[in-house]
Amino acid sequence: MKLKGKSAIVTGAASGIGKDIARVYAREGAKLAIADLNKDAAEATANEIRASGGQAISIAMDVTDERAVNDGVAAVVATFGGVDILVSNAGIQIVHPIEEFGYAEWKKMLAIHVDGAFLTTRACIPHMYKSGRGGSIIYMGSVHSKEASVLKAPYVTAKHGLIGLAKVIAKEGAAHGVRANVEGARALRRRRDQEGDAQGDRRW
Ligand SMILES: NC(=O)c1ccc[n+]([C@@H]2O[C@H](COP(=O)([O-])OP(=O)(O)OC[C@H]3O[C@@H](n4cnc5c(N)ncnc54)[C@H](O)[C@@H]3O)[C@@H](O)[C@H]2O)c1
Repeated sequence: MKLKGKSAIVTGAASGIGKDIARVYAREGAKLAIADLNKDAAEATANEIRASGGQAISIAMDVTDERAVNDGVAAVVATFGGVDILVSNAGIQIVHPIEEFGYAEWKKMLAIHVDGAFLTTRACIPHMYKSGRGGSIIYMGSVHSKEASVLKAPYVTAKHGLIGLAKVIAKEGAAHGVRANVEGARALRRRRDQEGDAQGDRRW
């Protein structure tokens, strides 16, 4: 068990890729916090993990809500005694040509992908520093962290932005044993290619 005794927060873990990550981490012995906007689905995921013999709690968290993030991380620390791993995974997709993108949609995209990464990082990292054990922060990237596609201006902007954030956190965290990485591009390209897209548009 590679993660035995580690405490992990995975945002957007009520479904999709985040849920898969949570399941794998739980199998490797981590204590999981399933943080998601969808509290019922988050609790269902936590239940499923507990039923398989793992440790998990659900946390109602909108990653764009500063207070919800701070309170959620505090609850995880109170329950598990710390936080060793943050997977900032929560994300959405909205597609339009740039001239049709509403400002509110643009801001919503950047808020979930980038502000969410910032807020969760800022809430978790002091606990990683304080523990003396360091930690790992993983931002969910995409092929769009390195490439561009039409119709996805805020998504591509956000996913590229996470690389910059990870580089800064890696430099600031190094002295404390905290690593930061952007994951996703290759594995998710494979997943996307396997699944295809019902609309004939590769959304992510
Ligand atoms: N699906 C793909 O092929 C693909 C490819 C590359 C990257 N990604 C990235 O992987 C991540 C997860 O994607 P997915 O396909 O599993 O999506 P999904 O829609 O299946 O799951 C996203 C989860 O995030 C939650 N969420 C949405 N907004 C939130 C918020 N403000 N606060 C907290 N939780 C919120 C949702 O409730 C949901 O449970 C995203 O960051 C996405 O950009 C996905």
